[in-house]
Amino acid sequence: MKAISSLIAVAASLSSAIAHYTFPNLIINGVKTADWVNVRQTNNFNTQAPVTDVTSADFRCYDSQTNPTAQTINIAAGSQLGIGCDNTIYHPGVVNVYMAKAPGNVSTFAGDGAVWFKVYQISAVTNGGTSITWPAQNLATVTFTVPNNLPSGQYLVRMEAIALHTASTYGGAQASLFLHCGQVQVTGGGSGTPGPLVSIPGVYTGNEPGILININWPIPANYTQPGPAVWSG
Ligand SMILES: *[C@@H]1O[C@H](CO)[C@@H](O)[C@H](O)[C@H]1NC(C)=O
Ligand SMILES: *[C@@H]1O[C@H](CO)[C@@H](O)[C@H](O)[C@H]1NC(C)=O
Repeated sequence: MKAISSLIAVAASLSSAIAHYTFPNLIINGVKTADWVNVRQTNNFNTQAPVTDVTSADFRCYDSQTNPTAQTINIAAGSQLGIGCDNTIYHPGVVNVYMAKAPGNVSTFAGDGAVWFKVYQISAVTNGGTSITWPAQNLATVTFTVPNNLPSGQYLVRMEAIALHTASTYGGAQASLFLHCGQVQVTGGGSGTPGPLVSIPGVYTGNEPGILININWPIPANYTQPGPAVWSG
């Protein structure tokens, strides 16, 4: 019996390893870009392993080992930007998309300081403790509208999928985060002032109720999306 349950545990960890994912491309005007062309190649491009330390430098773009060069692709303000997954967002969890405006050429922009604002999120749906569902789960593409009022210019776009299947301890069975930075040039933008602005890393401690959470039992009665409010322009 013990042997069987440890076999089951091994099988479960293997299946969760192959169920990991990256977000290597963007979808602009319905056209998917080639992998790792407009997205900075992440350290996990071939392992698909998540970031687990939300305070690490790699929590920003996860590219410390790849020294990536990416190309910047145009997108019109007010149009739809898709972010493609190489698998599906297999695990239960939530999504945040952040952007940061480069002062000049985004290719040489690191994203230091309080420069990031949230443009999109997909949270959990709760029902007072009888059920919790995850609308982001199993998506192959995350699509949002680039705010009309976003000033024209070059931006990093940072995808963040927070997997919460084993998120109940800090530094143990913890949240797994899958993320990247893409490079876009927003055209035809407006004169909005995006905010609130946060630093990444810095935006989370890892102790947020939406990151340090047992999603299975008791069923959470409510869910607090990590990070600032969405700026929709
Ligand atoms: C931005 O920098 C990259 C890399 O140095 C260069 O290839 C690209 O032409 C620059 N883009 C603009 C719009 O200046
Ligand atoms: C649910 O709401 C309570 C009261 O505001 C809060 O303390 C708790 O952290 C929330 N739970 C989650 C998982 O967000």
